[in-house]
Amino acid sequence: MSSLEVTDLSVRFGGHLAVGGVSLRVDGGRICGLIGPNGAGKTTTFNAICGVITPTSGRVVLDGRDVSKLSTHQRARVGIGRTFQRLEVFSSLTVRDNVRVGLEIRKGWSRRRAPAPAFLAGGADISPVDEVELILQRLQLTELADLPVGSLPTGQARLVELGLALAARPRVLLLDEPASGLDERETVDFGNLLVDLAGAGLGILLVEHDISLVMRVCEHLSVLDFGQVIAAGDPVAIRSNEAVLAAYLGAPAGDDELVGAAAIAEAAGHANGHGPGRGGAS
Ligand SMILES: Nc1ncnc2c1ncn2[C@@H]1O[C@H](COP(=O)(O)OP(=O)(O)O)[C@@H](O)[C@H]1O
Ligand SMILES: [Mg+2]
Repeated sequence: MSSLEVTDLSVRFGGHLAVGGVSLRVDGGRICGLIGPNGAGKTTTFNAICGVITPTSGRVVLDGRDVSKLSTHQRARVGIGRTFQRLEVFSSLTVRDNVRVGLEIRKGWSRRRAPAPAFLAGGADISPVDEVELILQRLQLTELADLPVGSLPTGQARLVELGLALAARPRVLLLDEPASGLDERETVDFGNLLVDLAGAGLGILLVEHDISLVMRVCEHLSVLDFGQVIAAGDPVAIRSNEAVLAAYLGAPAGDDELVGAAAIAEAAGHANGHGPGRGGAS
């Protein structure tokens, strides 16, 4: 089973420490959440794990191999997949062609070295053409396959982005606010899909403001505030953690009514653009 280990990761932008000594671990078959208020450093952590930005310090190890010196595309090839907070799809290309782009990422790798797409239940010997169709099917995109992605609503476009990421056969998948723009029903379906993917062996690190989704699908949570992990543990422990509530609410939690997932959810809603938040985040 795959594992991603991030150790003591720090990122400095000029004088600003955006990520300060973050350590976390994601094992295959598990969904781990990385949550925290706007500007806490979640996207920056993802960027450093993927090699989009060079961290000031820290190590990223995938399946026991230190990948810290690899380029972004090399990390994608060895199995670190991701989706983006600001949806990254090729709008003018069709749904099918977007998923095909994922195949390009792993080009140049022998079939033997590429991880088998166990989560697709297609077997290691599946042809690339069939694999794309299987991904479309699993994501319920088959009927939309010939449409340009730019013509689709956000919920479906986010699934296309996920399809592209899956076609690259990730071992560990980092999802940056994948449920933003999804309605309630789409969010529930999306959660079920993540559980299925993890059930088939994929490791998932989920950044998400929809706390009810996070609480439902994640086995383990790490909470970031001002670039540091202020709490880590199972969702039940996290939702009553005083430091976590204080980070979301901006003040120590004293009111019993505020304690619990609902309070975090409400606070996350505020931090997510409905209130003052921390600003400046992307
Ligand atoms: N390219 C950048 N240059 C300078 N500061 C940045 C850059 N990207 C992010 N930041 C800052 O780093 C902090 C963490 O941002 P980010 O990782 O986007 O937070 P989150 O994803 O948790 O909302 C914020 O203060 C943000 O303004
Ligand atoms: Mg972000």
